[in-house]
Amino acid sequence: MEIKVLELFGGIGACSNALKRLKIPFEVIDYVEIDKYAVKSFNAIYGTNFEPQDITTWDKNIEVDLIMHGSPCQDFSLAGKQAGGDEGSGTRSSLMYETLRIVEKLKPKYVIWENVKNILSKKHRHNFDAYLDKMSELGYTNYYQVLNAKDYGIPQNRERVFTVSILGNENFEFPPKQELKLKLKDMLEDEVDDKYYLSDKMINYCLGINQKESKFPRGERFLQNINRKNQNIANSITTNAGNRPTDNFLRIKNNTKKGYLEAYEGDGVYTNTSTKRGTVQHDIIQTLTTFQDKGVETRSEEHV
Ligand SMILES: C[S@@+](CC[C@H](N)C(=O)[O-])C[C@H]1O[C@@H](n2cnc3c(N)ncnc32)[C@H](O)[C@@H]1O
Repeated sequence: MEIKVLELFGGIGACSNALKRLKIPFEVIDYVEIDKYAVKSFNAIYGTNFEPQDITTWDKNIEVDLIMHGSPCQDFSLAGKQAGGDEGSGTRSSLMYETLRIVEKLKPKYVIWENVKNILSKKHRHNFDAYLDKMSELGYTNYYQVLNAKDYGIPQNRERVFTVSILGNENFEFPPKQELKLKLKDMLEDEVDDKYYLSDKMINYCLGINQKESKFPRGERFLQNINRKNQNIANSITTNAGNRPTDNFLRIKNNTKKGYLEAYEGDGVYTNTSTKRGTVQHDIIQTLTTFQDKGVETRSEEHV
């Protein structure tokens, strides 16, 4: 039997994809997403034909078993301006209250909500609690836990709070952590467009090397997550050990005894642009954002 799903704030369908990966038969009865590019991507991935829809005016009478929603998180996120998500505030994060309106109307058996961990902070906790209270009032039993993608097979250090609500009194346990077998390196494509690498000029800029004196061989590059426009990682990488072509690691400035951390091929690198200090994570990477301050160390032969 297929589970009837309503995907709210559906984006590119990570929730649907999770069901697919778990081999749980399901049908997306409706998908609510306002961004036409996200809708286009979703349709291309799943072979569907959905149109963009605004959740604030969405009011259909459909029967569904499961509502999944990753409501906008930027106003709760530490990376954002922390405008919050109070009901009626008009912030994007306050759209979580639209889900409650829809849950109240459709009363599905299960509701799964995903959001940033910072919603549990002192500043935003009241909105999280308001969600749980409303769900309890509607007859749901709520379970929530902060889960990290790296504990579930994905080489990314991405923490999110997941809330599972079940209509009635049913027990639920979050799955146990798994050993991480996939490495960040395994996720990289062998052939990628040049735009994903820093140019030689930019590499030298980052290393503080004058173009004419550069000992850096042509083509040795540092993969950046978005594009080469990033000027932000300057000053964290120096010309000392770890930055020479013969070194098999990259030296990333940090408050350690040595004054740096070593990033080896496949390690995720994050540079705090205000403190000019970096973090290295072995074989995994921080949550990717639109800030261009993260990358993957790739010193493979092809790029030298
Ligand atoms: C955090 S993302 C969810 C990502 C999604 N879980 C995925 O797998 O891609 C929030 C989504 O809400 C969408 N959104 C924002 N305002 C909306 C609105 N008024 N109606 C419907 N969707 C909206 C955004 O375009 C964005 O794709």
